[in-house]
Amino acid sequence: MRNFTFQNTTKLIFGRGTIAKLAQEIPAHARLLLAFGGGSVKRNGVYDQVVAALKGREWVEFWGIEPNPRVETLRKAVALGKEHDVDFVLAVGGGSVADATKLIASSIRSALDPWDLVLNENKLGEILPFATVMTLPATGSEMNRGAVISNDATGEKFAFYSRYPEFSILDPETTFSLPDEQIAYGICDTFVHVMEQYMTTTGQSPLMDRWAEGVLQTLIEVAPRIRADKHNYDAMADYMLSATMGLNGFIALGVSQDWATHMIGHELTALEGISHGQTLAIILPALLRVLRDQKQDKLVQYGERVWGIVEGSPAERAKTAIERTEEFFRSLGLATRLCELGVGEKTVEEIVRRFSSRGTVLGEGRNVDAEKVAEVLRLCRS
Ligand code: NZQ
Ligand code: ZN
Repeated sequence: MRNFTFQNTTKLIFGRGTIAKLAQEIPAHARLLLAFGGGSVKRNGVYDQVVAALKGREWVEFWGIEPNPRVETLRKAVALGKEHDVDFVLAVGGGSVADATKLIASSIRSALDPWDLVLNENKLGEILPFATVMTLPATGSEMNRGAVISNDATGEKFAFYSRYPEFSILDPETTFSLPDEQIAYGICDTFVHVMEQYMTTTGQSPLMDRWAEGVLQTLIEVAPRIRADKHNYDAMADYMLSATMGLNGFIALGVSQDWATHMIGHELTALEGISHGQTLAIILPALLRVLRDQKQDKLVQYGERVWGIVEGSPAERAKTAIERTEEFFRSLGLATRLCELGVGEKTVEEIVRRFSSRGTVLGEGRNVDAEKVAEVLRLCRS
């Protein structure tokens, strides 16, 4: 196990009816900005619960944060926050609203353009405290420092890191209104977060391995129950907590990581507008196939412990483990080939060009370069 320092400062408030606790958690004299997406929270009653919980307080509202939040939209939210001199931001919605809030909170007291902050974390100054009421389990944004922001003008999508939410409220009942495809994207996103912190090399930490395998097994167990009945509170609660535990740092202590699938996926979203979770369902199986020899020992461990694969040579078992992963994504109703979404060679070439010009090398072995990215993309084209 490698050395590490770990401090996650987010207070997690979980369960039915917990939005009512909002007023207790937000400082009494806070000048509040509430950030929202496109309106799902108005239709499912979450907005009403927030308003009821904040009775007697004053706030300003910013609406219209889109999925894959665009810096062009967030500049308007920052201007509103500056105009009202807010000192606390509350995100109410999915990962996009939470991510957007991290950039808004980082920009309100800054003279710099928000995109400048995304590209240069060293320029981050005062970051306002913020919190979330999370309505979509997927990103883990409710309990991590990450945010992923898009730029329409340049067609780019980049991650940046600010601070942890002060607290996050997770009421599984708020997820009952999620469309089926968002649940599929969210389960896949969570699964791939865990895989990118686990599917590296064996023998680094049996504790981290089993923790990750536990989250993967839980997702595999609850996914069909959720597909059968998305109002199943217990299944939704386990899915929601899996999403948080999948990307709050707990399963990555002292082990190597491989974020190649996410980095390639972000380019597909930036260029083709494909939903985040959907990009991962296409890229991960192809990436594992390209790196099968390098990751074989871990694939065999994963196959045995997560999928019960005990027959065949190590190479055969690794191959079967990748097939089972792909079948799982298909069982969620997701595509696993680029051609299913009409993505052609032009996009593949542009992604490879970007990785090549940035000189990026990804993966735990720092060997996923532009050439390997091309191999991965061509493998999942058809
Ligand atoms: O905008 P509204 O109207 O609220 O509707 C949203 C949106 O259309 C809807 N929705 C959310 N909760 C709902 C609901 N509809 C009905 N009932 C509910 N309870 O779902 C749609 C998608 O929402 P979005 O927030 O975009 O989805 P998600 O949570 O999957 O977030 C995706 C974004 O997070 C980034 C992704 O790149 C993408 O930009 N990620 C952030 C990470 C992080 N902060 O650590 C890590 C992830 O890997 C990911 O990259
Ligand atoms: Zn993700």
